Amino acid sequence: MNIGSVLEGLFTQNQFMAAIIVDNKGIVLSVSETYLQVLNLTKEEVVGKPIKEVTPHTRVFTILATGKAMVGYNWKVNGHNMIASTIPIIKDGETVGAFAYSVFPDIWDAKNLVENLLSELNMYRDEVDSLYTAKYTFDDIVSKDKGMEMLKSFARQIANHPFTTVLITGESGTGKDLFANAIHNASPRSRFPFLRINCAAIPENLLEAELFGYEEGAYTGAKKGGKPGKFELAHGGTIFLDEIGEMSLSMQSKLLIVLQEQEIERLGGSFPIKIKVRVIAATNRSLEQLIQEKKFREDLYYRLNVVRLEVPPLRQRKQDIPVLIRHFIDKLNPRLRTMIANISPKSLKLLEQYHWPGNVREMENMLERAIIMADMENGRSLDCRHFKFLQNRCSSEAPLELQSLKVASQKFEEELIARALETSNFNLAKAAEQLEIDLSTLYKKIKKYGIET
Ligand SMILES: Nc1ncnc2c1ncn2[C@@H]1O[C@H](COP(=O)(O)OP(=O)(O)O)[C@@H](O)[C@H]1O
Ligand SMILES: [Mg+2]
Repeated sequence: MNIGSVLEGLFTQNQFMAAIIVDNKGIVLSVSETYLQVLNLTKEEVVGKPIKEVTPHTRVFTILATGKAMVGYNWKVNGHNMIASTIPIIKDGETVGAFAYSVFPDIWDAKNLVENLLSELNMYRDEVDSLYTAKYTFDDIVSKDKGMEMLKSFARQIANHPFTTVLITGESGTGKDLFANAIHNASPRSRFPFLRINCAAIPENLLEAELFGYEEGAYTGAKKGGKPGKFELAHGGTIFLDEIGEMSLSMQSKLLIVLQEQEIERLGGSFPIKIKVRVIAATNRSLEQLIQEKKFREDLYYRLNVVRLEVPPLRQRKQDIPVLIRHFIDKLNPRLRTMIANISPKSLKLLEQYHWPGNVREMENMLERAIIMADMENGRSLDCRHFKFLQNRCSSEAPLELQSLKVASQKFEEELIARALETSNFNLAKAAEQLEIDLSTLYKKIKKYGIET
């Protein structure tokens, strides 16, 4: 009988399959490499031998006797937990052998595989979610500062005007994304998609297809059946054009036409498609200056700048600093599995004086590091030593001890300079004036002490 050789080719090469074939007497005809590994035996030790000698608890005799398959039973060999199946091999109505196999040699491998696939699936699900829905609401914008509170209530009003184009400006990390999300969620468009597109991250030659879509055969490599653009996908909802200041002049012209005509045409398409979306644009650049430099179209600027939200930098809303710190401690603790309760008054004061070039994003990152550092010391409270840039200013907290005059006066000088910089809002000329030294001396000392400006 040569069933073995017929089937052999099917599974011996398949590394995911542990399999064995016996004849109607239970003599092994063939075995896969993977199963040999599981058995920890060589081919010679298995093939041609009674299966009872190989695996004493084998079920093939039941299958040979009944002629019925047994599918999905637990099968343990050499500590490997497998889910196995055995089916009879029938020829001319007669059982001539049996084929036993397990697709995954180890059930835990299968479990891991499923878990990996599930987490991958969730990752993509998240990504799709974040692509089409707005995550944040106005409640997520934490603030105490009066100006910020006014900005929030103004933005809430804008949300109610679903056709109004909004331009959000502000330094990087101030919360522009947050505002765009919140406006969409508070608007009558909230049940429709929210699509964000980062104009800086997408190569210029792809941006047009991304925004407006294309028809089949529009260019080499274009997908079969074409593809809708973000404007189409956002139908009824909001499209958020982030980093609009980075858009090329030729794309700006195309965008302008779309905004004027309220319709798009797919690349390679032959008919216009009406669009019904609100446009929110954001940038950390000064569009006014880009216009001067002829890098931004003035007419597009007026189209976008219908309603303007200027999110102030964190250093200009110091009242927000303590509430944001509290907010992030509460938000980060569960994520980092830490139990930091508070922050020392001295470091809070120093953080309030800091000029936060990276704004709220910088604060979030800085707190994450500080929390991890404090947690490693088993601490419950954040202190200056947990913030890298505050470390050299911590020393004044230490009791006065005998030290060299040179070291002590340098420390004092460093602290004085840092303080002058803070009170002058990092205006170097002003700080030099306060310290009654000239600007070049100040520069030198800043460099010497490595003070962040
Ligand atoms: N007022 C705020 N309250 C809570 N979190 C904020 C606030 N402003 C900014 N953030 C957080 O700071 C980070 C940067 O905000 P983002 O909106 O992306 O800034 P931008 O778009 O201006 O660069 C985000 O993680 C955001 O959740
Ligand atoms: Mg942003």
